[in-house]
Amino acid sequence: MPDTLRGTTYHILAFGCQMNEHDAERIAGMLEACGSVCAGSLEESDILVYLTCCVRLSAETRLFGHVASCKNIPVREGSPLDERIIAIGGCIAQRDGEALLERFGHVSAVFGTQAAHRLPAMIEEAIEHGRCSADTSDDPGAFTADLPTHRATRWSAWLPIMCGCDNFCSYCIVPYVRGRERSRSIGDVVAEAQRYVDEGVKEITLLGQNVNSFGRDEHGEPRFAEVLRAVDATGIERLRFVTSHPKDLHDDVIALFGELDSLMPALHLPFQSGSDAVLARMNRRYTRAHYLELIRKLKTVRPDIALSTDVIVGFPGETEDDFEQTRSLIEEVGFAQAFTFIFSPRSGTPAADMDGMLDAEVVQRRFDALVDTVQRSAFAYNQGEVGRTVPVLVEGPSKRGADVIAGKSPKNQTVHAKAPAGASAADLAGSIVDIAVSEAKTWYLFGEVV
Ligand code: SAM
Ligand code: SF4
Ligand code: F3S
Repeated sequence: MPDTLRGTTYHILAFGCQMNEHDAERIAGMLEACGSVCAGSLEESDILVYLTCCVRLSAETRLFGHVASCKNIPVREGSPLDERIIAIGGCIAQRDGEALLERFGHVSAVFGTQAAHRLPAMIEEAIEHGRCSADTSDDPGAFTADLPTHRATRWSAWLPIMCGCDNFCSYCIVPYVRGRERSRSIGDVVAEAQRYVDEGVKEITLLGQNVNSFGRDEHGEPRFAEVLRAVDATGIERLRFVTSHPKDLHDDVIALFGELDSLMPALHLPFQSGSDAVLARMNRRYTRAHYLELIRKLKTVRPDIALSTDVIVGFPGETEDDFEQTRSLIEEVGFAQAFTFIFSPRSGTPAADMDGMLDAEVVQRRFDALVDTVQRSAFAYNQGEVGRTVPVLVEGPSKRGADVIAGKSPKNQTVHAKAPAGASAADLAGSIVDIAVSEAKTWYLFGEVV
C-alpha cells in the first residue's frame, strides 16, 4: 500500500459486536500499511474512525452523542492536518449513508460494512478535498480480501469465516446492514489459521453471524464441521466459534465437542425466548423443545460444557406466561452466562410494526427479574469450578492491580490470581498457567497459581 498517510496518527472506536472489533483490526492494519501510527487516545489522533452498531436504539443514541461531542476536541499539536479526519463506518453507516454527512458537518467520510477496504483512499480524498461522498455499495468480494491486520493481542485471533445473515429474525436489523451470507473458502480459512499457529497464536475464534451455515452459499449445504476439523488439524491449542443459530446446530458439530481436543467446552447458543408463541413471531424457526434437545445432546457429549446465550425481554405480545417460560428455561439449562436485552424496535424490521408493544414498566420489571435469574445461574455454574485446577490463558494484569493476573479458562470464565513471586502479570500475558480455583463470584473466579 502507498505511504500516503505517513506522519498521521489514528484512533478507532468500535461499538457493537465482534464483527466490528475484527474490522477495527483490519482497518488498523490498513492505516498502518499506509504509514499512519496508532494514537494513544482520541485527542492525539489525526484520523478518528468510528465502527458503529444499530442493533438497538441505545447503541445508536450513544454513538450519535459521541460523534457530536468530538467536534469540539482540538487538533493535536504537531498534526500534519488542518482538521481531524472523522470517518464513520459499520452498520449505522451502511444504513444511513449520505444522511450522516448531512447531519454531522464535521464528519469527512462514511463507509458501509462492505467498503472498509476502501477507507484509506477515502481518507486521502478527504484530506485533499475536505470530504468525500458516502460509500455504501455492495461488494461481496471485499469480505474475503486479504488485508493487513493489526491484531489486538499476540496470543488470540478472530478468524472470520462467513459474514452476513439470511435468517431475518423479525426483530433484527443485521441482515439489512450486513447483507446476505457469504462464506470464505475452506482453503483460505485454514491457510489463515495456519499462519496464526505459526506466529504463536494460542486461541482462534471463528467468527460469523451464523457460523453453522458456513458453506451453504457455496456448496448448498453447511460444511462447518469440516472447517472445525481442518482448523483443529493446524495444531491450534484453543478453538472457539461465535455465533450459532439453534436451527442450524447439527449433530456432526455437536459430536466434535467430544472429539477435538482444541475445541473449548463452551458454546454461545442464543435462545431469545422460552415461549414457542414468541419464537414463532420472532421467526426463529425452532421450538423450546428443540432447543432443550440440543442442550441435552451437548451435555451428553460434554457434561461440563459452559453454555451462554442471548435473551430478549418485552417482545411485542409477550405475556406473563411467555416470560415465565423464558425464565424457567434459564433455570433448566443452567447457563454459565446470558446476555439480556430489552426489545428495541428497529425501523424496517417486521417486529417494529407488530401489535402488542408492552408498557415500559412491565418490561423493566421482567428485565430485572431475568437479570436476577441469570446471576443466580451464573453463580451456581461458577461454584462448580471451586476446587478444580484450570489452565488459564493470561490476558495481563487485572483491574485489581499489577500483581494480579486476569485470564480466561477453557470455559471462557474470567479467572484472577496473584502473579507468582518474581513474575509480573504483564510478563505472563499470552502464556497458559494452571490456577487452582478457590473462590467463585457471579462473573469471575479467583484462585492460586499452581
Ligand atoms: N447472529 C447472532 C445470533 O443470531 O444470535 C447475533 C445477533 S445480534 C448481533 C446479538 C443479539 O442482539 C441477538 O442475539 C439478540 O438477542 C439481540 N438483538 C438483536 N436485535 C434486537 C432488538 N431489536 N432488540 C433487542 N435485542 C436485539
Ligand atoms: Fe439477527 Fe437472527 Fe441473523 Fe442473528 S440470526 S444476526 S439475530 S437475523
Ligand atoms: Fe451491531 Fe452490526 Fe454487529 S448492528 S451487533 S455491529 S452486525
